[in-house]
Amino acid sequence: MGRVRDSWTLGPALAASVGMWAVATLALAGEPATRGAELLAPFKTELQQALKAGLAEGPVQAVTACQAKAPAIAAAHSQGTVRMGRTSDRLRNPANVAPEWVKPILAGYLGHDSGGGDTLDARPRAAPDLSPRSLEIAPGRMGYVEPIVLQPLCETCHGQQIAPDVAERISLLYPLDAATGFAVGDVRGVFYVEYPAAEATSVDAP
Ligand code: HEC
Repeated sequence: MGRVRDSWTLGPALAASVGMWAVATLALAGEPATRGAELLAPFKTELQQALKAGLAEGPVQAVTACQAKAPAIAAAHSQGTVRMGRTSDRLRNPANVAPEWVKPILAGYLGHDSGGGDTLDARPRAAPDLSPRSLEIAPGRMGYVEPIVLQPLCETCHGQQIAPDVAERISLLYPLDAATGFAVGDVRGVFYVEYPAAEATSVDAP
């Protein structure tokens, strides 16, 4: 009877310890990434709202609204020691150029070996790992990057067929635009955020 009970309890005990180990590992590996994602969340929401409000006025007006609001939204969320933005290898606004530490991560998402020299028809050879990245970019400074994948909504202004009036407005406001020709599912670019390392641990500190 005692032996039966022992073997019966062994199963749940093992499962519990394996489960706890898995949770602890996840918490350790995931904590800084969680902080980066948290910092980006309000920025993303505000951009999305501005885009939707703009599109409600029509796609041409939305291009103008996006030009007027997107840089200000990034600046407003980049207060103090936190800096965030969007970037791409094919920029619409040249001011959105990637910080040096973001370039190799962006290149990885695109399936390129390096950050430069890609062409419009460059395609990844193997499916790249699109998981968010969290890293120390300088002593005491953390960085977090996640890919932006093109959705059907984005095709109006970044797709392969842009309506002539939209294309005209884009080239008027962005004479150097390189951000069209994308298909749904393509990596359009990345969100990134830089923040002090102390913030990575202060969140869950007892
Ligand atoms: C109404 C047109 C429009 C739509 C729709 C649109 N964008 Fe954009 N996008 C723009 C404009 C204009 C800019 C340049 C903003 C600026 O000046 O910073 C831009 C900039 C960007 C950038 C920053 C990098 C760069 O090229 O300057 C990314 C990334 C981006 N868009 C992704 C998306 C994604 C993803 C979607 C769909 C969810 C989307 N856009 C939908 C017009 C649009």
